[in-house]
Amino acid sequence: MLDIKITKIETPKAKPTGALGFGKYFTDHMFMMDFDEGIGWHDARIIPYGPIPMSPASSALHYGAEIFEGMKAYLTKEGKVQLFRPYENAKRLNSSAERLCLPELPVEDFVEAVTTLVNLDRDWVPTEPGTSLYVRPFMIGDDHSLGVHGVHHAIFMVILSPVGSYYKEGLNPVSILIERDDVRVAGKGGTGYTKCGGNYAASTRAGKKAELKGYSQVLWLDAVERKYIEEVGSMNVMFKINGEVVTPALVGSILPGITRKSCIQILQEEGIPVSERRITVDELLKALEDGTLEEAWGTGTAAVISPIGKFVVDGKEFVVNNGEIGKVSQHLYDEITGIQSGKIKDTRDWTLEV
Ligand code: COI
Repeated sequence: MLDIKITKIETPKAKPTGALGFGKYFTDHMFMMDFDEGIGWHDARIIPYGPIPMSPASSALHYGAEIFEGMKAYLTKEGKVQLFRPYENAKRLNSSAERLCLPELPVEDFVEAVTTLVNLDRDWVPTEPGTSLYVRPFMIGDDHSLGVHGVHHAIFMVILSPVGSYYKEGLNPVSILIERDDVRVAGKGGTGYTKCGGNYAASTRAGKKAELKGYSQVLWLDAVERKYIEEVGSMNVMFKINGEVVTPALVGSILPGITRKSCIQILQEEGIPVSERRITVDELLKALEDGTLEEAWGTGTAAVISPIGKFVVDGKEFVVNNGEIGKVSQHLYDEITGIQSGKIKDTRDWTLEV
């Protein structure tokens, strides 16, 4: 167990009123803990939310030694605050840490840090439908030296943000530009399966280009052949083609999403097989042309399910399911948010009360 020292804020901030958007507001406190080689993790503390002092030589600033997680806390109608599959986030953080030579964190310590902070700031969990408290655990390398090496000093932190929907469209279908030039991450052997800041930094140019053209995000193709579909924006992607639910197989360059994993399990338990395989952009284009693409949607913590209403490729637009939310997308959204918010009984032990 961690020995967490808590220093409370003197004057709590006013809670935001009106639309929350995504990641714009932060709660009163944050969690912080240091790692030093030879000592291990130490000085677990919760302090008022605010800037952190950093050396200008920190490895996080120069070489992108940073990994993060995203999870959500919900308030149930019984007044309980609960998290969704936090142990999965803890395990994935360690998988990212291993790849970036950052120190691993005991899974129980990760969960204790998150639950203690969320519990302290529990009056920040928003109550409007479609809102939640987004939890952002992250770790940075903090070696004060300009040599490129594995990390010897690190900081683990957790911050909290009351959020509404990720896309301004909410659950309305978004339009997606198929990206043929930029790639999100390098191929197999790279960092694609990790949640490291660098992956997201590399994705922003294509995302910005799509937004300037009036689309919400891009569909990423693989870095080697520019042939296989990988992700959509910052989410995993799923399709229903000719009655079959398909999603790109986790080939090393794709994030093993927790929402992705939950969708697959829910569908399979309902007798709907999900095929995890490589999907070419040509297969998608053919399905768009001959009308066999019934539905497409993104899956991720931030948006949960984001239906895709239109694909744009090489200047040609293809509407999916008349631009409407499909049955499978709606069902998965209702099921997952239902479990997260306590409206649907959690029969799989996915939720954890803080
Ligand atoms: C997610 O939806 O899981 C994400 O990671 C989105 C985040 C980068 C804002």
